[in-house]
Amino acid sequence: MGIMTIDGREVEFTNEKNVLSVIRKAGINVPTLCYQPELSIYGACRLCTVEDSRGKLFASCSEEPRDGMVIYTNTPKLKKYRKMIVELLLAAHCRDCTICDKTGNCVLQDLSYKMGIKEVPYENTRERQPIDESSYSIVRAPNKCILCGNCVRACRELQGVETLGIAFRGTDATVMPAFNKGMGETDCVGCGQCRVVCPTGAITI
Ligand code: FES
Repeated sequence: MGIMTIDGREVEFTNEKNVLSVIRKAGINVPTLCYQPELSIYGACRLCTVEDSRGKLFASCSEEPRDGMVIYTNTPKLKKYRKMIVELLLAAHCRDCTICDKTGNCVLQDLSYKMGIKEVPYENTRERQPIDESSYSIVRAPNKCILCGNCVRACRELQGVETLGIAFRGTDATVMPAFNKGMGETDCVGCGQCRVVCPTGAITI
């Protein structure tokens, strides 16, 4: 329990598990891609980053609130930082938005519009991968995946199945079933929890 100052406003907190929850309680919108309150915290997208009074940046989803904390959620530095993150994500993302099932309901698309991103200044060096349509219910489009890990955690933590995992590292990192099997060849029960938490069109029904 304590009081923190967010954008010059004092906000009381009680048992919120992270700074992001206190920010949201104060009615302030900070974008996120990898935060799902019902899942464990992953801290991958860094969009929820805020700035403290000394100019230090940190991910608000992974930080416990402390009494006396002073933070800012929308400084010029943060805006620039978040825009660069979205541009980098778009660079490695299949941008067939107009024919994507998720168009109009995609968090990445929405953020791009809000940030006024019209061009992506980075080259897409990610290898294109085939769409997995082997399952009777779940379609996996790896080229639209932004590696937020939401589907992996939902499958494990909500459904207890663990069909999906993150294979390889760095720019090769890919969400896939073990041994790159098709979804239809795994123990996937077709619950669709992965689809619910996927912020893009990487997993559709
Ligand atoms: Fe905090 Fe993604 S929401 S790092």
